[in-house]
Amino acid sequence: MDPSTQKAEVKRIFNRVAGVYDLLNHVLSLGEDLRWRRFVARCLRPGPTGRVLDVATGTGDLALAMAATGHHPQVVGLDLVPAMLARARDKAARRRARLPLVTGDGTRLPFADHSFDAVTIAFGIRNIPDRPAALAEMARVLVPGGHLYVLEFASPQRPWVRRAYHLYLGRLLPQIGGWISGDKASYQYLAETIMDFPSPTKFRRMMRQAGLVQPRSYALTRGIAWLHIAHREPRLA
Ligand SMILES: C[S@@+](CC[C@H](N)C(=O)[O-])C[C@H]1O[C@@H](n2cnc3c(N)ncnc32)[C@H](O)[C@@H]1O
Repeated sequence: MDPSTQKAEVKRIFNRVAGVYDLLNHVLSLGEDLRWRRFVARCLRPGPTGRVLDVATGTGDLALAMAATGHHPQVVGLDLVPAMLARARDKAARRRARLPLVTGDGTRLPFADHSFDAVTIAFGIRNIPDRPAALAEMARVLVPGGHLYVLEFASPQRPWVRRAYHLYLGRLLPQIGGWISGDKASYQYLAETIMDFPSPTKFRRMMRQAGLVQPRSYALTRGIAWLHIAHREPRLA
């Protein structure tokens, strides 16, 4: 699939599943997804201005978890799909949280260079076909010394865990996703993006190629999810 067809497909999928996205996330990850996002929120160092951009914010769970931390960062959420942002907007209103939301593309961020102290993206980068462009854009909008946090799935390294996980992804996930959302094909596609996502080592290399420094990765839940952190080079005095 060429990148523009893939982007249109991703848009179609998230438009269709927006209404059941949160429920399915919690069911399919047995509630672990909430813990993973809370972990990112706890690791976040919002920096001196407290400006944080959450790319591919979806229904806003990570953005809202970060906004609720003691640092009180000013989080902005960006996503390609208005139907996902509508959910985030309702959720923020219910929690009386301030969460500015922007419709936009992660590969062409509508912000000036050095606009944010931190940028986050949770389970979004694997849905963006041009990952080098997205990483370069996220690096561009970071202040020198700013931090990038990427939460994403990966296939576990241990062979038996990997086999069991791929069986779950290939068979069970599309089945359950299909029952709840009525769209088995979308969940089949999402499962494939997880199985195809590069290993943490390869992903760290991509971060370096985008100009980010000191990348490191933390495994969550036996390496099913990973938090990758890297920095933009600090300005030399
Ligand atoms: C699996 S959801 C993750 C949502 C949220 N971050 C979370 O943790 O639940 C992936 C999100 O990426 C968004 N997305 C996909 N391609 C994008 C792009 N090129 N630019 C911005 N957002 C994009 C989708 O619309 C969707 O909301």
